[in-house]
Amino acid sequence: MAGYNTQYGRFICDSSLNVLDSLEDNSINLIVTSPPFSNQRKKKYTNFDEVPQDEYVDWLLQFAKKAYNKLAPNGSLVIDIRSAYEKRKAVESLYPYEFLLKMVKELNYNLCQTVYWNNTSALPLPIQYVNIEKIRLKNSLNMNMWFTKAPDGRCKADNKKVLNPYSSRMQKFIDKPESFIKGEQVTRPSGNVLTVKSWRKDNGGAIASNLLSYPNSSSNDSYQRFCKELNIKLHPARYPYKLIEFWVNFLTDENDLVVDIFGGSNTTGKVAEDLKRRWISIDISQEYAASSIFRFCDNLEQAKMFYDRIMSGEDVIIKK
Ligand SMILES: C[S@@+](CC[C@H](N)C(=O)[O-])C[C@H]1O[C@@H](n2cnc3c(N)ncnc32)[C@H](O)[C@@H]1O
Repeated sequence: MAGYNTQYGRFICDSSLNVLDSLEDNSINLIVTSPPFSNQRKKKYTNFDEVPQDEYVDWLLQFAKKAYNKLAPNGSLVIDIRSAYEKRKAVESLYPYEFLLKMVKELNYNLCQTVYWNNTSALPLPIQYVNIEKIRLKNSLNMNMWFTKAPDGRCKADNKKVLNPYSSRMQKFIDKPESFIKGEQVTRPSGNVLTVKSWRKDNGGAIASNLLSYPNSSSNDSYQRFCKELNIKLHPARYPYKLIEFWVNFLTDENDLVVDIFGGSNTTGKVAEDLKRRWISIDISQEYAASSIFRFCDNLEQAKMFYDRIMSGEDVIIKK
């Protein structure tokens, strides 16, 4: 089977519906993935063109159903989903909510939290409603639905691993609270009483909120460089490295197993490799599988050689 192996992971070119069956039960610590979106059929995703919009939710649920047994009891499944408009209507489709309800009510997943990715470089789409008719706002938020099968929802997670830098005001307060507050405690307008002692404690950073803001505009990684130099089409729907770095750091430890069932250009595998997690990425397209190896290549000659070998159906090993 075409694909490649790195020090920590493996890219498999096949349908995830086949590959998931072959994985060990209860073995995956995190599945983080971005399925082909329901409004992107024109982008010609392999196989996906054949899924009619009204069958999309059930199509996607097949993968989640197979993933359930493969997840570790305290593992997580994070699905990046964007809303879409109904065909030829300025009416938002309810499919993300239908999917969410079926995940919980039919497949027995628990929803840990809905986290939003704010794509700070999002384009003003759909052009018809946002730019021409001016009747809708630019949609820059993707839902990242975070599920687990842990019965009480307590999957592995540690928000201390994804702290944000303190604001300069908070840092000044930690350093010198007496210049902000007189006395030992303060009552907030909400009625909450905060003691200066607990509030000024330096925890190394601020706890992240469920709004994650990252641009999707990186242009000089090895994937893009080698695609351009070899004249190979870039994957049209890559998600940003920083978003996946957040999830992998938040929900896994070194050596845990991270899986992406719609691997595309293998952003997930690259993050996992860099963070020393074992990983498996799966994509049905041989072209995406082959070009995704560029993320692990040092020079153009090596990139071209591996690309050609994967395209001819070989399974290759790349080691640093
Ligand atoms: C939104 S893209 C993923 C992009 C990826 N997150 C990245 O950063 O490059 C969805 C991918 O799902 C793949 N796909 C569609 N049906 C599939 C299937 N049955 N099994 C595995 N991959 C599939 C498509 O080829 C496409 O590359």
